[in-house]
Amino acid sequence: MDLMLRECRLPGGELVDIGLGEGVIEAIEPRLAATAAREINVAGKLVSPPFVESHIHLDSALTAGQPRWNKSGTLFEGIEIWRDRKQSLSLEDVKARAIATLKLQAQQGVLFVRSHADVSEANLSALKALLEVRDTVKDWITVQVVAFPQDGLYGSPGNLDLMEAALKLGADAVGGIPHYEMTREDGVQSVHRIFELAQHYDRLIDIHCDEIDDDQSRFLEVVAACAVRSGLGSRVTASHTTAFASYNNAYAFKLMGLLSRADINFIANPLINITLQGRTDTYPKRRGVTRVKELWQQGLNVSLGHDCVQDPWYSLGSGNMLDVASMAVHVCQMTGQDEIVACYDMITTNGAKTLAVQDAYGLEVGKPANLIVLDADSPYEAIRRTATVTHVFSRGKLLVQTQPAEVTWQNAHEG
Ligand code: FE2
Repeated sequence: MDLMLRECRLPGGELVDIGLGEGVIEAIEPRLAATAAREINVAGKLVSPPFVESHIHLDSALTAGQPRWNKSGTLFEGIEIWRDRKQSLSLEDVKARAIATLKLQAQQGVLFVRSHADVSEANLSALKALLEVRDTVKDWITVQVVAFPQDGLYGSPGNLDLMEAALKLGADAVGGIPHYEMTREDGVQSVHRIFELAQHYDRLIDIHCDEIDDDQSRFLEVVAACAVRSGLGSRVTASHTTAFASYNNAYAFKLMGLLSRADINFIANPLINITLQGRTDTYPKRRGVTRVKELWQQGLNVSLGHDCVQDPWYSLGSGNMLDVASMAVHVCQMTGQDEIVACYDMITTNGAKTLAVQDAYGLEVGKPANLIVLDADSPYEAIRRTATVTHVFSRGKLLVQTQPAEVTWQNAHEG
C-alpha cells in the first residue's frame, strides 16, 4: 500500500483504518495490520467521500461586476448583464476563470463537478472552453458539462443548431430553460426536444426547470412525464424547480406521485434561490426554494449546488459545499439530526447519484481513492461549524492540505 490513513471516523460513526494503493482504496478495516510507505493518523476526524458540486456555471464564475453590478438582484437583470458580458468571452478568459474556480472548490473538498455552459452564443466559446477544461483537469477533478441554452432553445433562430453542435462537440448532458421560453407551448416543446436529443446522442439531461415564483410554471410535470415515457428516469435531473414551493398543495401532492414514478433527480441551489426568488413579493416574502424536505421524505434523490460563484446573479459564493448544505438546513427547515445528515448526503452521495458517477465514488474497497478529511467528528459537526477540509486525496494522492484556524486566548482572559 502507498498510503495508510489511521483512525478515520466514517460518516456513519465507525472508526477504521483506510489503505490506499495504486489510486484505489485497497482496504477498510477497524484495525489494519499492514503498513504503508506513508501513514497519516487523522485521530478520529471525519473521513468522507468528496463533496459533489451538482450545479454550477463555471463559464460565468468570477465575473461579478463585469460590465456592471446587478442592482435589482433579480434573475432577469442577471441574464441581461450576462448577455452583455458574454460578447467578450474568449476561450482563455473562460478557461482561466473555470480553473481558478475548480481549484477553489477542490481545496475545499469538491472532486466532482457538474457545470452548465451557455450555448446561446454563436461561437460556443463557453462550451469549447469548458470541454477543454474538463480534459485538462481530469487527473485531479471530474467535470461534467451541460449544454445550457440560457436564452431558450426557441429564443432565437439558430439556438437549436447551437445545441446540436454542442452535443456533437461532446457535452455530457442536454440542458434547457422551459420557463424562460417565449410561450408555454415553446417551453413544452423544448422539453420534448431535449429528450429527443438526449436519446439520439445518448446523453444525460439536466434542465433549469421552473426557476421562477410563478405558481403556474408547470414544466416539472412535463419533464417527469417525458422521463416516465422515455424510461430515462435517473438519467434526468430537474434543477431549481423553485415554483414547486409556490404550487398549491392539492397540485403539489398530485405532482409528487408522478415524480415518484419518474425517479428523476432534483438539484436545489439554496444560496442563490433564497436571494433571487421572492423579489416581486411584498410581505410575506416567499423563500423560493423547492420542496427539498418533502422530496427527501418521499425517498427521491435530491442534491445541492452553488449555482453561482461571484457572477451576475450572485456576487457572493465561497466554493464551500458546507455553506450550501448549511443554507439548505436553514431555508428548508431541516434542523432535525437526521435531516442535517440528509443535507450532508445531498452534497456527497446524492450528488454522485445525480451525476451518475457512483462507479467512481464512495468509500468502498476497489473504488478510486477519492476522499477528504474534515476537522470535525461527524457530518452534523461539519455543517454546524463549516469545518475545514484538512486533506483532499484525489486518485490516491494528497492533492491539498489546509491547516484549521488556531485560536489562542491570552492569559488575562483565562478562567
Ligand atoms: Fe443554474
